Amino acid sequence: MKRFEDPNGLIFTATNAESASGFAELTSAYMGFQRNTGKLLGALRDADPDMPMALCAQGSFAKLMGSSNHSARAVTLSDALQTRLSSLNATDRERQHAAALSAWTKGDMNRATDIWEAILLDHPQDGLALRLAHFTHFYSGDGRRIRDSLARTLPRWSEDHPDYGFLLGMYAFGLEESGEYEEAEKYGRRAVDMNPADAWSVHSVAHVLEMTGRHADGIAWVAGLEDDWSTVNNFRYHLHWHRSLYHLERGEFDVVLDLYDRQIVSDITSDFYLDICNASSLLWRLEMFGVDVGDRWRALADVARTHIDDADLIFVSLHYLMALVSAGDAEAADEMIENIRKWSTLGDTQAVICANVGVALAEGLRAARSGDFATAASKIGAVRYQMDAIGGSAAQRDVFHMILLDATAASQNALQARALFRERLGYKVHSSWTWHGYSNALATLGDDNGAETARDRAAALQIH
Ligand SMILES: [Fe+2]
Repeated sequence: MKRFEDPNGLIFTATNAESASGFAELTSAYMGFQRNTGKLLGALRDADPDMPMALCAQGSFAKLMGSSNHSARAVTLSDALQTRLSSLNATDRERQHAAALSAWTKGDMNRATDIWEAILLDHPQDGLALRLAHFTHFYSGDGRRIRDSLARTLPRWSEDHPDYGFLLGMYAFGLEESGEYEEAEKYGRRAVDMNPADAWSVHSVAHVLEMTGRHADGIAWVAGLEDDWSTVNNFRYHLHWHRSLYHLERGEFDVVLDLYDRQIVSDITSDFYLDICNASSLLWRLEMFGVDVGDRWRALADVARTHIDDADLIFVSLHYLMALVSAGDAEAADEMIENIRKWSTLGDTQAVICANVGVALAEGLRAARSGDFATAASKIGAVRYQMDAIGGSAAQRDVFHMILLDATAASQNALQARALFRERLGYKVHSSWTWHGYSNALATLGDDNGAETARDRAAALQIH
């Protein structure tokens, strides 16, 4: 094998120059969530089966599925990569990538992230390292890490680079998750101006509109660009999920159920972690809005039963568990919680998060569904300020905060319910659900005037 330089100035160990440029093309497709990403990788593997970075990308993409059966495949690929490297004169960068994949497959996500960031110091043009770090920062639940990663790297890219817009949208997402909504919106809109099919950047702006309660703007934004972003892989369902959140707060429940049935749940057996997260989160929210979701939980529970041993991302496991407890499969739910408890003792990056937060949330979810609302409120309430650690976005984690408030109200603790709904209005003043819950708490405490005013605020926000 020889060394070849790609158009970004990165050196690849490969059998021919086309493999290096093919990898650059693969990285761009991955950043764009393009449906041909798997095909491009397959073609690269076929054409150059010994190329270390192609094998590394295959292992990394398997890990990104967030599902233990795919992680098992990643372990095999990582082992094969290590074997191959022992007989190759690979570059330091390629060896670092292999070390990051190895750490990731062993559960040391923090070390993997550190390695990708170290690669970026020397090779800021390494789009794969940048994007993988972006997502593991995201899984850490600390938006500042996402923001700062891009703040370091963005100035080292040329604005003329065809992937530059992807970076703008990534920076927008980091800014948004750090609460810097105005700046986030500017970067996100600039990215989408450059490439309207850049679903991640469309998504960054959707988050800004969610967090600032601009529901009509959110619907116009996501729906207006649908012809562009709907060409991407299963990530497109997450944009339908975002659109659903805006409709929920407006009381447009028929629209939400339609989006759920036609889009969000349409590929639920995919094993892609985001699909179950979208679906479970939306069904539970619908029920908290008082909507009858029929037997929709059953299909999710069928999928969840195949993931009760998963030990990849606690954020994802909690969404599988939501389906099990909601469908009334107590046996599977108990088994899954026991597995999470065992996982919490293993010491890897996610195990520590399970120990600190995940187990409490899992037990809280089970209690909430079994009608033991006081226990649910107590379990979830105990970890509510540590909850960011489970990862995902603030908008995604919000469902757990909502469940805490819902359980508190149901536990007849009206004083605490009033306090929690009132504090939520501090950062979600445009939420009809929150005004409604606040109104109920005030009514329980005998404040009829306050309850009526709050009810009017809720009604004004629900257009149907
Ligand atoms: Fe999102």
